Amino acid sequence: MTESEGSRLPGFYNLPRQERLAQLARASGLDAASLAAIGGGAGLTAEQADHMIENAVGVYGLPLGIAVNFLVNDREVLVPMVIEEPSVVAGASFMAKLAREGGGFRAGADEPLMIGQMQVLGLTADQLAGAQQALLDRRSEILAAADEVDPVIQKLGGGARGLEVRPLPKTDAGPMLIVHLIYDTRDAMGANAVNTAVEWLAPLVEEITGGRVHLRILSNLADRRLARSECSVPVEALAFEEFGGEQVRDGIIEAWAFAEADPYRAATHNKGIMNGVDAVVMATANDWRAIEAGAHAYAARQGRYRSLSQWWVGEAGALCGRLEMPMAVGIVGGATRVHPTARACLALMGVERAAELAEIIVSVGLAQNLAALRALATEGIQRGHMGLHARQVAIAAGAEGESVERIARQLVAESAVRLDRAEQLVRAEASGEMS
Ligand code: MEV
Repeated sequence: MTESEGSRLPGFYNLPRQERLAQLARASGLDAASLAAIGGGAGLTAEQADHMIENAVGVYGLPLGIAVNFLVNDREVLVPMVIEEPSVVAGASFMAKLAREGGGFRAGADEPLMIGQMQVLGLTADQLAGAQQALLDRRSEILAAADEVDPVIQKLGGGARGLEVRPLPKTDAGPMLIVHLIYDTRDAMGANAVNTAVEWLAPLVEEITGGRVHLRILSNLADRRLARSECSVPVEALAFEEFGGEQVRDGIIEAWAFAEADPYRAATHNKGIMNGVDAVVMATANDWRAIEAGAHAYAARQGRYRSLSQWWVGEAGALCGRLEMPMAVGIVGGATRVHPTARACLALMGVERAAELAEIIVSVGLAQNLAALRALATEGIQRGHMGLHARQVAIAAGAEGESVERIARQLVAESAVRLDRAEQLVRAEASGEMS
């Protein structure tokens, strides 16, 4: 990122796409190959896809946009987002601009500790405590055995870190002992390393417990690998149109309290957070299903499904927000390294550690949450949404080129963002009269 432009690219939104790319090239200093992978059609090839999954027949495109204005831990970041939904990139960018007025996002991430689970069956309820103790007594031996599996991670400073054992005396399949291997996966997401380690350990665990190890798989509730971000928006920065700053701030806090108290609302509230989170996770070819699973399990960790974020009034009346959630993302290995666009997206953000990527992702999630709550607490979601949605409806009705914008504007002006009306307008344009 060049010092002069940072992540603030005023007017980026209004530029034609090619000029946006040119500005991105100047602002980011990315090399030609990365730029081509981001905007020049040199993304994943069918040939590469063929090596990634079975029965591949092609590749599937989705829009890739750049969220601007992000300042995360005093670092300017241009954030790539892959998403099909209108308003998300604009919402993140705008809220990042508001957050800048309070110093941007302050983010942090835990050590990259993943959990690998082993399910030990074949023990009676009375044998569980003895088996648990036997495992704990041979903890060092078990951790040393786990460290034999991946010398590369080990050399990079990762590897086995801990062992936890939980008896579950009463389940639908009888008593079981659950063994957790805590494993530091460094800059990898780590599913492969952890799964290999628990598969490797299973015979040793059987020998020690006298039981039978059934499942050996990582847990997506990566609650040892949390990332968190906070921001503080000066109350004056929240005012717009007829809405006063305090009114917007208090409305956002009331909206958050609804999600905190009601799982029906919390699901939608957290979905809004995931709009931002998943878009960056996808741009970097990370496993968004793993992130989704972890997020929702974490949201329900206290026995009731709640908001992943918190909003409150801070110093000088500022609106303060915080988001904390599991963030098992990697920057090495897997699709992240194979996918040319994902590699370019990582280069664009200039991340050198998985933890830095996690910090950016939670900051985007927090910004996205703010965008949704601000809209919901004031003018409603549809006004902002409809302008962009109208473009999609116009395209679906057959509009092309400049007529997409023209017809979209007309649909919004008539408050009739509907396919039938868009089709009428497309027909009218074709026959030379815009009705
Ligand atoms: C839509 O994709 C996301 C929102 O529903 C989130 C929310 O309601 O907080 C707008």
